[in-house]
Amino acid sequence: MQDERPLKILIIAAEIVPFVKVGGLADVVGALPKSLQALGHDIRLAMPRYGQVDPTRFHLQTIVDAVSVNMSNFQVPVSVRRGTVGDAIPVYMIDAPRYFERENIYGYTDDGERFILFCRAVLEALRFLDWSPDIIHCHDWHTGIVPNWMHTIYHDDPFYAETATVYTIHNLAYQGIFGYRILEVAGVAANGFLYPQIAELANVVDIMGRGILFADAITTVSERYAQEILTSTFGEKLDHLLRSRRDRLFGILNGLDYEEMNPATDCYIHTNFDAQSLDKRPENKRALQEQAHLPVNPEVPLLAMISRLTDQKGFDMLGQIIQPLLAQGVQFVVLGIGDQHYHEMFQNLAARYPEQVAIFLTFNTEIAQRIYAGSDMFLMPSRFEPCGLGQLIAMRYGSVPIVRAVGGLADTVQEYDPRGGEGNGFVFTNYDPWELFAAIVRALELYRFKDIWRKLQLRGMAADHSWQASAMCYVEVYYNAIAFHKSGK
Ligand code: GLC
Repeated sequence: MQDERPLKILIIAAEIVPFVKVGGLADVVGALPKSLQALGHDIRLAMPRYGQVDPTRFHLQTIVDAVSVNMSNFQVPVSVRRGTVGDAIPVYMIDAPRYFERENIYGYTDDGERFILFCRAVLEALRFLDWSPDIIHCHDWHTGIVPNWMHTIYHDDPFYAETATVYTIHNLAYQGIFGYRILEVAGVAANGFLYPQIAELANVVDIMGRGILFADAITTVSERYAQEILTSTFGEKLDHLLRSRRDRLFGILNGLDYEEMNPATDCYIHTNFDAQSLDKRPENKRALQEQAHLPVNPEVPLLAMISRLTDQKGFDMLGQIIQPLLAQGVQFVVLGIGDQHYHEMFQNLAARYPEQVAIFLTFNTEIAQRIYAGSDMFLMPSRFEPCGLGQLIAMRYGSVPIVRAVGGLADTVQEYDPRGGEGNGFVFTNYDPWELFAAIVRALELYRFKDIWRKLQLRGMAADHSWQASAMCYVEVYYNAIAFHKSGK
């Protein structure tokens, strides 16, 4: 690559660790900037200032006070606060209480309007800050309007003339589909803002589809998922559009924040350990069994899931095999929140099998880390999985993953092969409860051979899933995006 100058990069997303987190998106957007900064680039972030983000706790400073942002026929007063992540990386937070001072992050009928306002305010705020980026890196549907605007209302704006856009898909299942009114909100209803020539966008306002159509480069969070979404099985009705843009679609695997996710220093877990002191790890299993009110027994296999309790994650399949699984004498710990019927399913199981099933219906980082450190096996039988972070964390903490071979799970977990002694987990292919069951049984069999099991754990712990390599791939995509932008394609 000839172009190697340091870049000005704005990363814009709806959630960022440590401020707010609903899913893996927040982890990614909280960690990637640190590695980009280490590569010498000028990185800044933008997100909404939700009611949950306490200005005092995060030392937020007001840098733009009460300016008006245009939303077609009305204006919204907006302030910009500044927080930081890592080594003084600025995080611009759009403060618009009417839209973001609410109990939850998502789930409102005006979500479309909320995130359109957010994006608009970010683009306008950069003017006040007189910082015009080389790259705007957008994430998921909430920010998909930005590449679209660069080809419409900001097209002739000198401030953004040199700015290329990169759009990252974390989950194609959430596209941000709204009624036509949202076009008025976005200030573009008058420009013939539907795309009749593109079947996917002809009759609906699909914000993610717009991001895909207009971004200078598109990425998703594993190579396998980048291939999968080109098919009708995984393409969520956007596969045709994605295929038409495949020359600029790249798969880049997520990394982990190795400073945060480190069993040797993690302050949430009971006993710190690493590959050299794996003998200390069972202390964490004991502590987890106590906290989960399960019988303390080092021998009984302890299986865990940490997940949003949704269909994507394979809970329907699990429900079909849970009885025979419990008949194997295992313990099972689940942490997460989600669909009500899964809450009930686990509550019933925990009531019926108090010595085997424990459920934490919450999202709590502290308990999550203890589960990674204390469980023997970590289940991710996902229907689809763009990347998946749980299996990466589990491996780093010595819990052996059992996964379905989709998306990032397929890219990071390989079946243990008794002949060559290779592989780092257990894998099944079809979305079939008995294939899942068989994979668990293979794991339970091997668990009896402590020295082999230990090697499996150590192999997982030795793998490098830090952000460094992935951050370099993103930089390459940024230069590609700039080249695409310049060529006017
Ligand atoms: C979404 C995906 C998950 C991915 C995460 C971060 O939550 O479902 O697979 O790891 O985004 O990219």
